[in-house]
Amino acid sequence: VSLAETPYCRKHKYDPQNPLCAHIIFAGSIVKVNDSEADVAKKALFSRHPEMESWPKDHNWFFAKFNITNIWVLDYFGGLKIVTPEEYYSTLQYF
Ligand SMILES: *[C@@H]1O[C@H](CO)[C@@H](O)[C@H](O)[C@H]1NC(C)=O
Ligand SMILES: *[C@@H]1O[C@H](CO)[C@@H](O)[C@H](O)[C@H]1NC(C)=O
Repeated sequence: VSLAETPYCRKHKYDPQNPLCAHIIFAGSIVKVNDSEADVAKKALFSRHPEMESWPKDHNWFFAKFNITNIWVLDYFGGLKIVTPEEYYSTLQYF
């Protein structure tokens, strides 16, 4: 995920490959959610993509989550910064 996807880098005249046009890299695996997580997953997805609620059921869609295991932040010169998933989640607001 890069700030190049926002107006930020253009506004500051940063090339998308310039570290100041910050990047965050997530690695992990896709895991099906269980029954107790399904309601939260549905609410999260359909609140952002309401049309998906009426997509054909016979396509075998399923709800999944990203099990993040590694996070790297590139926002300055001199290399990546490592952020643990615990540090990352401790900054998030849940709905
Ligand atoms: C579903 O997964 C969550 C997160 O791993 C866990 O806390 C919860 O106990 C699980 N629920 C069931 C019914 O397995
Ligand atoms: C998430 O990934 C970690 C590290 O590979 C693994 O130990 C854990 O079991 C995974 N969690 C789920 C819900 O698959």
